[in-house]
Amino acid sequence: MRKKIVAGNWKMNKTAEEALILASEVANMVKDEVSTDVTVVIASPSLYLSTLTKYAEPVVNLGISAQNCHQKASGAYTGEISAPMLKSIGVEYVILGHSERRQYFGETNEQLAEKVNISLENGLTPIFCCGESLDQRNAPGYLEFVASQLTDSLFHLSVEDFGKVVIAYEPIWAIGTGVTASSDQAQEMHAFLRAHVATKYGQEVADNTSILYGGSCNEKNAPELFSREDIDGGLIGGASLKSREFVNIAKSF
Ligand code: G3H
Repeated sequence: MRKKIVAGNWKMNKTAEEALILASEVANMVKDEVSTDVTVVIASPSLYLSTLTKYAEPVVNLGISAQNCHQKASGAYTGEISAPMLKSIGVEYVILGHSERRQYFGETNEQLAEKVNISLENGLTPIFCCGESLDQRNAPGYLEFVASQLTDSLFHLSVEDFGKVVIAYEPIWAIGTGVTASSDQAQEMHAFLRAHVATKYGQEVADNTSILYGGSCNEKNAPELFSREDIDGGLIGGASLKSREFVNIAKSF
């Protein structure tokens, strides 16, 4: 049985004080209200991760994620953060390949393959993002384009390692726009990606792979999205900045 996961990507938001308030509210609500069948993840700016792991520790189904890591374990890479560093402070997850990293920081599928490797070597769970632009969506081959992002960054992994990866499908045209993919559009892509995983790793591995949807997901549209067969949760941006709404999304299965 694959895991249901709702992850909140705070992106570059919240001061320290605001971050601690939001995280403690989420931790309390998750403990009291969210079924332990659902794993909730907070991906905060890296500055706060160390403190937030302490908030998450007592809550069995709450984990903490980084939003990125460098592809090398250590070295002269000013301003960067490594997978071993994240592991050493109790971080469990790392978002990799978010479209904002690809767009603004030029991250490539090849570089992301290295980031996936170093994350897995250090016991972190990658939340690997993929997704197409609006132009790609409006042209033939958008399903294959997104599948190729998985091929290029993940399909070198052993079956065992691939089984540790979480996939997040985020159509770029739906991120932060208020225009969510319809549940039919999301389901179509999720089913296609799962079938693509099956061609490489077999049906059992594909069936056990959690594929999250991201892009203007909120407490209103989450119940319909999460009811679809191949949608195993969400990667939530804007709506994760409000504790009540974020936890409501986690309760939407
Ligand atoms: O990582 C999260 C996604 O980019 C979705 O962001 O929910 O603000 O559209 P959004």
